[in-house]
Amino acid sequence: MAKAKTAFVCSDCGSDYHKWQGQCSDCGAWNTLSEIRLSGAKGSGRSPAGRSQGFAGELAPARVLSEIDVSQVQRIPTGMAEFDRVLGGGLVPGSAILLGGNPGAGKSTLLLQACCQLASQMSALYVTGEESPQQIAMRAQRLSLPLDQLKLMAETNIEAILAALDAHQPKLLVVDSIQVVYSEELSSAPGSVSQVRDCAATLTRAAKQRGIVLLLVGHVTKDGSLAGPKVLEHMIDCSVLLESSDDQRFRTLRGQKNRFGAVNELGIFAMTEQGLREVRNPSAIFLERGEKQSSGSVVMVVWEGTRPLLVEIQALVDDSPLGNPRRLAVGLEQNRLAMLLAILHRHGGLQVGDQDVFANVVGGVRILETSVDLALLLAIVSSFRDRPLPRDLVVFGEVGLAGEIRPVPSGQERLAEAAKHGFVRAIVPRGNAPKTSPPGMQVHAVATLAEALALDL
Ligand code: TYD
Ligand code: MG
Repeated sequence: MAKAKTAFVCSDCGSDYHKWQGQCSDCGAWNTLSEIRLSGAKGSGRSPAGRSQGFAGELAPARVLSEIDVSQVQRIPTGMAEFDRVLGGGLVPGSAILLGGNPGAGKSTLLLQACCQLASQMSALYVTGEESPQQIAMRAQRLSLPLDQLKLMAETNIEAILAALDAHQPKLLVVDSIQVVYSEELSSAPGSVSQVRDCAATLTRAAKQRGIVLLLVGHVTKDGSLAGPKVLEHMIDCSVLLESSDDQRFRTLRGQKNRFGAVNELGIFAMTEQGLREVRNPSAIFLERGEKQSSGSVVMVVWEGTRPLLVEIQALVDDSPLGNPRRLAVGLEQNRLAMLLAILHRHGGLQVGDQDVFANVVGGVRILETSVDLALLLAIVSSFRDRPLPRDLVVFGEVGLAGEIRPVPSGQERLAEAAKHGFVRAIVPRGNAPKTSPPGMQVHAVATLAEALALDL
């Protein structure tokens, strides 16, 4: 065993060092290194100094890919189609899944609902470190979930959880949450970098060895990153984030990392009296607008994974009292907003340098797609000129640095979805111009930003 028992770990990226240093050489973050005591257990954690010199154990066989039997890897559907959609088709045995979210997002509710259903086909153990078994049982009862299969345990000690794994031999293990689990072998407090890192590694390893599904709950901080070390994200196979909408009614589940599927899928739930309900056809749920059309607002169609979503983009442009005007984007990328304003100045001839610009996606949706560019710019121009855009107009398209409007994927499907919801006018990239417009819809295909701004609607 190597002598060093402590290491310095970056809380941002998880890199470890022998000595303390002010800046992490890997990710460049300052002041993120903290000392952790490595647990003495063999193989636990990733010891920087403790790499083994030789190997005396039994060597695992190395095989060519074609010899490896993959037919047995079956996905287990959770019974919640929206959850499965984000997971890429269901749970994979021997994998570790991290469910992140703000406190109150509904992580415990989602997992309780899924596990109560799953427990009838596979033995499941729910380890709770935050709520008492009574609280959870009461909730399950209130939500009319099947109560007779799921095993529940209140425990935060990792050694005890491992012992319970041996005793109950579950096929599905939930740990709610990883931040409260601690190991006695480490001196630091639960929730600290070293505890979270070590406990998650131990649990992940146990899950892989036993071929069970491990579901970890993790809290996120205000800025959306996982409380505790980022290194957790490297360890687990799949990381999903549950976020609540502005008005708290809807919850969106988004994949951030998935070793078994795509990450761009979005699952949508509604939080009701009866727990989380799936929203099967969510394309227009975020679209609730008053009768009066105001300037600075326009509807666009986002393509989330494999389906469309109609969302309203709002912009407010106002004289800035400050020397350095503010640019604020909620639900959109801040840097992209700055870039689009520069394009607007250069290729649209509109100077907003002395104006505050606020942009918002209604309903708390986060748009990562570039198809929002044109809609956002038109909303900004509409607010700046104080001229409302028509209520029945839908817009999408990417805007390039040269002021050109670039096509986006699934243009036809986006238009069809908008037509279905009563939109009769559309501004789309020329590359997305349909051969035949959806019935009753007038489609303006534009190639440049100047063309789009010149349209008289
Ligand atoms: P919870 O699952 O405890 O959140 P987390 O584990 O992510 O912290 O959910 C708590 C919130 O959900 C709480 O604000 C109340 C709300 N809720 C409902 O509105 N209806 C319900 O049926 C349940 C169980 C919770
Ligand atoms: Mg909880």
